[in-house]
Order: sequence, then structure tokens, then C-alpha cells
Amino acid sequence: MNERTERSEGHEGMPSQPSVKALLLGGAGFIGLHLARRLVADGHRVTIVDDFSRGRDDRDLAALRDHPAVEVVSGDLTDPATYAALPPGWDQIYLLAAVVGVRNVEQDPARVVRVNTLAALHLLDWVAPGERVFFASTSEVYAGGVEAGVVGVPTAEDVPVMISDITAPRFAYAVSKLLGEAAFVHTARARGFDTLVGRFHNVYGPRMGADHVIPEMSLRALRGEDPFRVPGADQYRAFCHVDDAVEAMLRLMAAPAATGQIVHIGNDREETNIGDLAKLVLRIAGVSPAIEATPAPPGSVTRRCPDLGRLRELTGYQPAVPLEEGVRTTFSWYREHGWPS
Ligand SMILES: NC(=O)c1ccc[n+]([C@@H]2O[C@H](COP(=O)([O-])OP(=O)(O)OC[C@H]3O[C@@H](n4cnc5c(N)ncnc54)[C@H](O)[C@@H]3O)[C@@H](O)[C@H]2O)c1
Repeated sequence: MNERTERSEGHEGMPSQPSVKALLLGGAGFIGLHLARRLVADGHRVTIVDDFSRGRDDRDLAALRDHPAVEVVSGDLTDPATYAALPPGWDQIYLLAAVVGVRNVEQDPARVVRVNTLAALHLLDWVAPGERVFFASTSEVYAGGVEAGVVGVPTAEDVPVMISDITAPRFAYAVSKLLGEAAFVHTARARGFDTLVGRFHNVYGPRMGADHVIPEMSLRALRGEDPFRVPGADQYRAFCHVDDAVEAMLRLMAAPAATGQIVHIGNDREETNIGDLAKLVLRIAGVSPAIEATPAPPGSVTRRCPDLGRLRELTGYQPAVPLEEGVRTTFSWYREHGWPS
């Protein structure tokens, strides 16, 4: 299946590469759908596998499914039979499937550990030598060290990771991703396939659900909330538009030197505090309610920003979507589509 005869046009700034056959595990979710669209636009073939526990079979997915280069498979990736039913011979595999989000982690940490771990381990049993696998990890793996004041910000990949309390539900997600990172790096070496770990930092954009801060604020602004609650107004974040995150993923997958590495993915150009983000959302929404600063959600770090030195050195990546533009397009999407609560 590794048909390398067709050539794609390539994206601005990216060399054109042979048409690849890509498997997107958890591909009906937020990052997966944006990645799938971009791969198809670049002339590649895409198979999405998802159990639709969080990803939606909506008109965005339907539009993608109509493309002849796209196949969508419904399946549970905690079941090894789902992998066994897939054909072999992929050029690129992306493991995006996971149970994510603070609400899920607080309500059912056992499910977070089970799903995130089994989806990863069954993939590792199934992947074939010569294939190349991207494992989606998170800045949460080192957040415990930032919270404890032993890890600096902006943060590079080589800092020690720290779980402050193994029994606290909110660390279940970080623990599952840490195990995944180690499992992919060691198993790839042992079994002769290529892997790389991308740690995402506050990726945002259209169709990302309603739990993350930018869509959540957008939906409240659209509902006319007044006073407008701003939890953690003095916390700092560096938000990365999903188009930039996808660009970084594709560049890493095309970079042989990235093999076996852990790489931070984000946008280090425009750190903002949450109070200023709220003002930006309200300005874009064209409303001016009273602002009511409330305490930050428990366990969220006061500052998060990636050091992107490794990503830049490996790929030449530069974040391209300014925060105001990204928030504006995200807000417009939520105004048009809404999101069921
Ligand atoms: N969005 C971010 O800012 C961010 C930050 C850090 C890490 N990540 C990681 O990136 C990946 C993608 O994140 P996202 O924001 O697109 O999340 P998402 O929830 O939108 O996508 C995950 C997808 O996995 C699917 N899934 C879950 N369990 C499954 C199972 N058992 N079988 C098949 N499919 C299953 C869900 O239905 C969903 O479509 C995740 O692994 C996440 O941990 C994202």
C-alpha cells in the first residue's frame, strides 16, 4: 500500500511530498478532523477510525467522508479486534484517540486511564516495522513540576516530569500520557518502526467542543452572560491555532531527524492572560458586560508556554495565525454552529 508514485502539490513553505496513506485514530475529533482536511487538501489519502464517544458524525465529517480519498471507520480502539480489522501498510499513523478534558478526568479518571492506555498498547501490538507513528501527548505531563515551582516557563522537552499526587483524579490524564510516551519510544526502538511524540500546548479552533476556554467564553458571550465570569483571569497561556498545530505535525512527520523525539507543539509568540483573552472575546462578540473575576479551576498552572526551540530546529516551523484572527474565526464558527451542552 505504500504507493509513493503520486505526488501532491505541497503546502506553502512545505516541500511537496509523495502522496501518503494516513491512518487517523481518533480522527473524528477536534485535531483529527482539521488534520484530515489538510492531508486531503494536500493530495493524500486518509482513513479515520473513531468510536464517536466525543468526535461527532456531523456535517463537517460528512463533507470529508464524501471525498473519494477519505474512509471513515467506526470502531473502539480499546478493542484489539478494531486494529486487526484494518489493513496494514500505512505511511503515517496518528494516535489522537483519548479521553480528554477536565470534566471527564474529574468524573471518571479510571476511564481516562483505561481508554488512553489500551488504545496506545493495542496500537503498539499491531503497528508494523517501517510504519511511522505520531503519538499525541500533552503539556500536562510536566504541569506538576511547574505548579511545584521546579520547572521553568517557557518549558522545553527535557525537564523532569512530575505527578504531585498519584491518587488525585486530575493527574490521571497526565499519567496515561506519560505511559504512552515511554511505551511509544521504547517499543519503536525494540520493534523497528518510527515514532515521534508531539506534546500539544493549548490548541484551539473551530469544532473543539464547549469545554475549552475559547469556545466556552465564546458561547457565554453569545448567550449574553452579564456579569461575565472570568475564572483565573491572571493566569497566562500561549494559545495555538489548530492550523498551526497541524502544520507542525506534518512537518515533524516529514522530518527524519524527529524520529524517536519528544517535541513541544504550540505558539510561543503571543502569551496572553485570561483576563485579556476575555476582553478580546467580548470585543469580537460586540458586547460589554461587567467582568466578574473568579478563582482559577483547581490544579491549573499559573503560566504555560512551550519552548519551541526543538520544533523550530527540526522543521523550521513558525506559528502563523495571530491570536486575534484565530479567536475571531473560532468565535464566528461557534456563532454559526453553536454546540449542544
Ligand atoms: N486540543 C488540545 O489542546 C490538546 C492538548 C494536549 C493534548 N491533546 C491530545 O491530542 C489528541 C487529540 O485531542 P483533541 O482535542 O482532538 O480531542 P478530541 O476529544 O476532540 O478527539 C479525540 C477523539 O478520540 C475519540 N476516541 C476516544 N476514545 C476512543 C476509542 N476508545 N476508540 C476510538 N476513538 C476514540 C473521540 O471520539 C474523539 O473523536 C488527544 O490525544 C489529546 O490528549 C490535545
